Amino acid sequence: AEDQAPKLLQQYNDLISTLPLEEGWQPVSLRKYKGVWLPGHEIFLRGIFAIQSHFKSRPTDILLATLPKSGTTWLKALIFATMTRSQYSFADHPLLSLNPHNCVHSLEELWAIGQPSKIEALPSPRLLNTHMPYSVLPDAIRASDCRIIYVCRDPKDRVVSAWQFTSSWHRSKKATGEMMPTTEALSLATAVEMVCQGNSPFGPDWDHVLEYWRESLRQPENVLFLKYEEVMEESVANAKRLAEFMGCPFSLEEEKEGVVEKIITLCSFDKLSKLEVNQNGDQASVFRVPNSCYFRKGKVGDWRNHLSPEMARRLDGIMDEKLRGSGPTL
Ligand code: A3P
Repeated sequence: AEDQAPKLLQQYNDLISTLPLEEGWQPVSLRKYKGVWLPGHEIFLRGIFAIQSHFKSRPTDILLATLPKSGTTWLKALIFATMTRSQYSFADHPLLSLNPHNCVHSLEELWAIGQPSKIEALPSPRLLNTHMPYSVLPDAIRASDCRIIYVCRDPKDRVVSAWQFTSSWHRSKKATGEMMPTTEALSLATAVEMVCQGNSPFGPDWDHVLEYWRESLRQPENVLFLKYEEVMEESVANAKRLAEFMGCPFSLEEEKEGVVEKIITLCSFDKLSKLEVNQNGDQASVFRVPNSCYFRKGKVGDWRNHLSPEMARRLDGIMDEKLRGSGPTL
């Protein structure tokens, strides 16, 4: 963003100051843009604005779209390992020394730090990810032939994961002195309430899920809709679906050699979470989140250990009401 002309910068800053502000999701403030609560960091928002008019898509682009904490890190690893499988050996794989966020870049984060040229420089097919809802994607993507992989997750597990992530990130910032020790951490009750009111990062969640769901029905060859729980339960079938969708299906020979299973093992929570880079590294994100924050439990149903029955009912009730008849079952 630093090289943006001063006039444009001023325009963007003026726009930001007009956007509704939400400060309940501590320590991240949110701004509402086109009906969506985006993280309110100015560099981030300026990046999102710039993407709208300047992103150049390629028909071969593959975009992983998620709400945060839906399995982005995992799916990044899976799509990267699948797409590049002829280039690397499993014994000496980039995913053994790089966090998945350094293998598949976030569209909005690279723009936020003024490095869209990194995206330009990527060879085709480019693998990118976004948390933007379909309606906030630039026209250049929506009008193009690029493929979108959407992953959603049980909102109860997602909210627990988001709350834990925000708290551990918060703790690490306090430890390094980057955050005032007095800044309140997000409570689980607040996180649940804000998700239910539609006031959480990239929310309302139901709109996010519904928009991609509808597109997956309208243009199934361009939008693949996956669920975290299904990928976990039927990893092989879903890894094959992913490969086919990305235009690089596994050959019978590869299947016989166990390549699908090797990819699944390489990308598994057990494997990735124990690597040195993912335990102690911290270069993955613009927001300088320690890599370890992206790996917590990686389980389905951990919400039972955290949410009260009322919280669970409220979340299910809201999602059910918003998605019933027109969306997927979560
Ligand atoms: P939990 O907090 O429930 O453990 P995101 O990558 O979108 O930020 O989502 C993070 C969630 O995915 C966390 O969930 C994290 O533990 C889980 N996760 C990370 N890597 C994973 C993997 N390889 N397999 C399954 N889940 C994974």
